Amino acid sequence: MNIVVGVTGGIAAYKTVHLVRLLTKAGHEVTVIPTEDALRFVGLPTWEAISRHPVTTSVHEDVAKVRHVALGQAAELVIVAPATANTIAKMTAGLADDLLGTTLLATVAPVVIAPAMHAEMWQHPATQSNIATLRERGVRIVGPADGELAGGDSGPGRMSEPEEIFAAALAAITPGDLDGRRIAVSAGGTREPIDPVRYLGNRSSGRQGVALAVEAAERGAEVVLVAANISHDVLAAAQHPRIRVVGVGAAAELGAAMREAAAEADAVVMAAAVADYRPAEVAAHKLTKESGPLTSIELVENEDIVAGLVRDRRAGQVIVGFAAETPVAGGGVDDAELMERARRKQQRKGVDLLVVNEVGWDRGFEAAENAVRILGSGGAVVGSAAGSKREVARAIWDAVVKLSQ
Ligand code: CTP
Repeated sequence: MNIVVGVTGGIAAYKTVHLVRLLTKAGHEVTVIPTEDALRFVGLPTWEAISRHPVTTSVHEDVAKVRHVALGQAAELVIVAPATANTIAKMTAGLADDLLGTTLLATVAPVVIAPAMHAEMWQHPATQSNIATLRERGVRIVGPADGELAGGDSGPGRMSEPEEIFAAALAAITPGDLDGRRIAVSAGGTREPIDPVRYLGNRSSGRQGVALAVEAAERGAEVVLVAANISHDVLAAAQHPRIRVVGVGAAAELGAAMREAAAEADAVVMAAAVADYRPAEVAAHKLTKESGPLTSIELVENEDIVAGLVRDRRAGQVIVGFAAETPVAGGGVDDAELMERARRKQQRKGVDLLVVNEVGWDRGFEAAENAVRILGSGGAVVGSAAGSKREVARAIWDAVVKLSQ
């Protein structure tokens, strides 16, 4: 997503460096537009290095590309942080005497501002009335927080923390198209016990499933996240008031939890890597060399959970499956055969959408990035995405929303 970050002249500008970092790390293209005053607090090289884009304050550069309006037209979101009392007044009046001013007038994108100033300036009727006007025009205001201000004063006027601005900015651009929908997502990988200390497992980290749950919750859904053996670190990202996490271990437990969640859900996504087989017997005690050499383990087949969910589905419920396939480079099949195999899998399971995910030793499972194609029930590719797992999640929910319209 194309994001413009306007930085105006306040000491809090140093915190905006971290905000830009959060945005670029989340995969967004960020153009920073500082005011001349802002550059007295944080210099131009810092903004260029952190955003990885050229930075200017001037409307007279790149005139051929009509830069003074082009940035605003191309922006999908504009954030102003810190927003000084002066900038807030200029925004309210529609003044365009620098690049940030022209950009703000030329954009139709959502605008989020994070005010920062002394408490007296914030409380002044002029500022309060400007803020009310901006709010009326749809500008979202984050903060200011109450706390210590420059010069040792304290009160309302401190810029909100970068994480809070980041969350508010993302909320401004995520559609509420899953508002009130109930969703069940499975994530992670099952572990089938062999004895009290060993199991048969797989390399799924649960990152894609967690990204699906978070994206759905941010788009307004109530989510049950059935989490199979997901590490603390990965699961920490799923802390959201609309996500309920149900921890599970083996496939049978995951199946039971998903059946329960699916009975109430409008959409179900099976992102978990489920073991197809489990040991026929689980030893009550740890197997040791003394109990005899173990050269083979007898396996029995696990139920196909997603196929069962399809069989018992509620009217109108959308069911999404995943297919992890190894392409030719990973010792698997060529692309045409990979897609044919995925189409057969979709027919066999009866899912509405099948997310085809190329995996290998170096991709898919533990990586932060992912690449998928989404097959519709007719076997046609109805969507695709490559990038962060969050971007992939976005494409999957877009496809689900389209199906339910
Ligand atoms: N799945 C399931 N129950 C199983 C195995 C898989 O619900 N016992 C689900 C997965 O969560 C995923 C989809 O089925 O959404 C496809 O998983 P995958 O392992 O690719 O398919 P398999 O049926 O195991 O086919 P194969 O191993 O032959 O590729």
